[in-house]
Amino acid sequence: MSKTNLATQFSNIFGRAPEIVTRAPGRIEFIGNHTDYNGGTVLGASIDRGVAVALARRTDGKRNFHSTYTHQTVTLTAGEPAKQSGDSSWTNYPLGVLAALPHFGLSVIEGFDYLADSDLPTGAGLSSSAAIELASALAFLGATGQTADRETVVKIGKHAENHFVGVPCGILDQGVSGFGKSGHLVFIDCAGPRFATVPMPAGASFWIFNTHTKHALVDGLYEARHRECMTAARALGVKWLVEVTPEALLAAQAKIEPTAFKRARHVVEEIARVAETVDALKTGNIDKVGSLLTASHRSSQRLFENSTAELDFLVDTLVASPGVYGARLTGGGFGGAVMALAGAGFGAAQAEAVAAAYAAKFGARPDILPMGTGDGAVVL
Ligand code: GLA
Repeated sequence: MSKTNLATQFSNIFGRAPEIVTRAPGRIEFIGNHTDYNGGTVLGASIDRGVAVALARRTDGKRNFHSTYTHQTVTLTAGEPAKQSGDSSWTNYPLGVLAALPHFGLSVIEGFDYLADSDLPTGAGLSSSAAIELASALAFLGATGQTADRETVVKIGKHAENHFVGVPCGILDQGVSGFGKSGHLVFIDCAGPRFATVPMPAGASFWIFNTHTKHALVDGLYEARHRECMTAARALGVKWLVEVTPEALLAAQAKIEPTAFKRARHVVEEIARVAETVDALKTGNIDKVGSLLTASHRSSQRLFENSTAELDFLVDTLVASPGVYGARLTGGGFGGAVMALAGAGFGAAQAEAVAAAYAAKFGARPDILPMGTGDGAVVL
């Protein structure tokens, strides 16, 4: 949505113009599955869809949150944010940002009118949560005349997610939303963290297939995988799994409980795949990039066990399609979406055939979303 459109909507809802309008993109996890909270490396792409926020300060201490998704206004009062539930639970993202600001030495805005609008499909694993966190952080800071560097804004978003929303995620989603660049992938060394950009391979494009399936226990399963990785790290006597090579892990297998070992093997081999992907991107070896993407999915399937029959079927069908370099689940897993990296030989007709085969098997069509890259979070 354009700045003018959002400003008009803001005026229709709140009867005045916004003081600031911001926007932050969603992301595709390119490769580096569950590596971020293990201190590893990851490649992601910021996409050309995201969340926009418009905001104006109020002097009466009221905090009005409106979303074009729920079409409802949630009114809260200034002060220590309290976690919301039910229809208001989306406000936990901006509230989490407000709760995070003092931890970074930044001051909190008291009353305001706030409008959020999104063109990200929900439940597709494209990180609408990081997008709303970063767009909110830029709006709260900008409206109070405060500045923070990009890395701090990213860390504010992650802090909100970890400590207020309550998800023990790593820095992938917020890092890519913050440091994204059109036509590029974002490389993150999560231990630093250190951020860099790598050009997208020429002639390749992203296709997202959103299954609209979601494991009922998805949050608990993410936490369980996080726990299993930490169990393996403890058994190996390291802080993070990134400190262990695939060879050292295999040599230490007897020290680690079998499930934790499988999770750790996925993580350390995935970190090695990220390094190989960076090399293959540098030399323009797109076939190799594609085979690494598919190898990542196979590892999710067999070792990390965060795939599903639906995601596996899409990957199998996609990699058998002409023009597809590779395909994998994108994001946390346990449902959501599959990403394919494809060349000119794969277009709308081929995507349609994949969706039709899926519908014949599962009785429901996945959404087909050809996806472009876009720039990172910005004040419009
Ligand atoms: C989710 C989390 C990220 C990352 C991925 C898996 O998207 O938010 O931090 O752990 O899952 O790679």
